[in-house]
Amino acid sequence: MNRETKIITSEEIARQHSYISRVREAVTGEGEKRYALVRTFGCQQNEADSERLSGMAEAMGYEITDSEELADLILVNTCAIREHAELKALSITGQFKHLKAKKPSLIIGICGCMVSQEHRLNDIKNKYPYVDFLFGTGEIYRFPELLCRAREEKGRFFIVEETLGTLAEGLPVKRSSDFKAWLSIMYGCNNFCTYCVVPYVRGRERSRKREDVLAEARELVSKGYNEITLLGQNVNSYGKDLGYDYDFSDLLSDICAIEGEFIVRFMTSHPKDASKKLVDTIAANPKIARQFHLPLQSGSNAVLKAMNRRYTRESYLELIDYMKAKIPDIALTTDIIVGFPGETEEDFADTLDILSRVRYDNIYSFIYSPRKGTPASEMDCQIPSEIQSERFSRLLQLQHKISNEINQTLVGTTRRVLVEGISKNDPDMYTGRCESGRLVHFKSDIDYTGKIVDMLIERAETFNVFGRVVPADIARVESDET
Ligand code: 5AD
Ligand code: SF4
Repeated sequence: MNRETKIITSEEIARQHSYISRVREAVTGEGEKRYALVRTFGCQQNEADSERLSGMAEAMGYEITDSEELADLILVNTCAIREHAELKALSITGQFKHLKAKKPSLIIGICGCMVSQEHRLNDIKNKYPYVDFLFGTGEIYRFPELLCRAREEKGRFFIVEETLGTLAEGLPVKRSSDFKAWLSIMYGCNNFCTYCVVPYVRGRERSRKREDVLAEARELVSKGYNEITLLGQNVNSYGKDLGYDYDFSDLLSDICAIEGEFIVRFMTSHPKDASKKLVDTIAANPKIARQFHLPLQSGSNAVLKAMNRRYTRESYLELIDYMKAKIPDIALTTDIIVGFPGETEEDFADTLDILSRVRYDNIYSFIYSPRKGTPASEMDCQIPSEIQSERFSRLLQLQHKISNEINQTLVGTTRRVLVEGISKNDPDMYTGRCESGRLVHFKSDIDYTGKIVDMLIERAETFNVFGRVVPADIARVESDET
């Protein structure tokens, strides 16, 4: 079996564009509007992939909809990171059975990380007969061809190629926001943390060429995007496979050199590769949000070793100290896995200890979920779920206290905030995001959606802060509009 990463040629992309034209002609020739629904599970990378899938569907004549009832085409873009994510995707897919019964012409496709695993592909094949076609994470660029086949031929098909991932340029995209954009800079992961399924379902690391990334960034800025989030499973490895001397810090500096007012974010960084050069680059560039997401996973050296993380709590803390010294207002966030096989009470205490020392603004915490085919799923001493849950709630309790304390220190300060729109919980309020990623809620007679404003923080709770737009900046924002 010849498994390698595959750079998709411009001829192949042109071939996909010819399928786009073919489907578009057929769809528009049907005389009735056709609708496509893309349901997305999982991480930002999946959201970015779904924006490409929606872009291709739109180019093929479909109107993108949120309505299951309206849809003539449904695509489920799945996640495999934890069992819960898989069960959710399977349950939603199960609910589409009745839609197909009502509308037999409905085409249902499933793609993404979950179905890139053989056992899940077989589940779909055998237990979900109303799913018409399936494709893996490496076949996204072939969606036009696959949809064309699903429309024109009878019979179901399932395509997950034996590659270590693909890299394709020149596909249409339909972005879900007019002011915030994802920008994938690389795909895949080489790290093989022992709990993680990603390297198996997304292949090896491959970086997009610097010219392609910069061209997309320039286009986003020229279209008025105010926030660009650079995406990769391990952005600190960016460029290692390009064959020229250019790393993630160089890319960040070049993006910040693009003229215009915008905020740059990035995720995710692996602590073993996050360099002091990167910290210095953030310190030197006001366009980069003062926020760093640095997944710790565990504070215990023994657990980190069993996870194959290749750093120690000491080296992690040294990097954090360097960051805090260079960028005193940096907001830190992290990922923690609770209840990894063999985690003792002392190991867990080491994790709590790091939380107290670092004082993260926020943490994303997960109970360990065994993933088929990963080394950790076969380790002895899996932790009973009652112990996992008990540790999980202790972790949250500590973090809530820290988050609340940090939020209180913000009261009275002024923050740069990107306004995201009307609050989901209160139609009388707007919501925005500080550079730290924290949500800020505020009342306003003026709709600043999509704008960056300065906001005075007036009140804080554990998860939210409340403020108001500072009058001086109202003038600045308004004059920017004219
Ligand atoms: N179980 C629980 N959490 C996991 N993560 C990755 N794999 C697993 C797993 N098997 C978490 C890690 C990672 C985040 C994206 O998801 O914390 O950083
Ligand atoms: Fe998974 Fe580790 Fe790669 Fe992150 S770095 S995607 S946790 S294997």
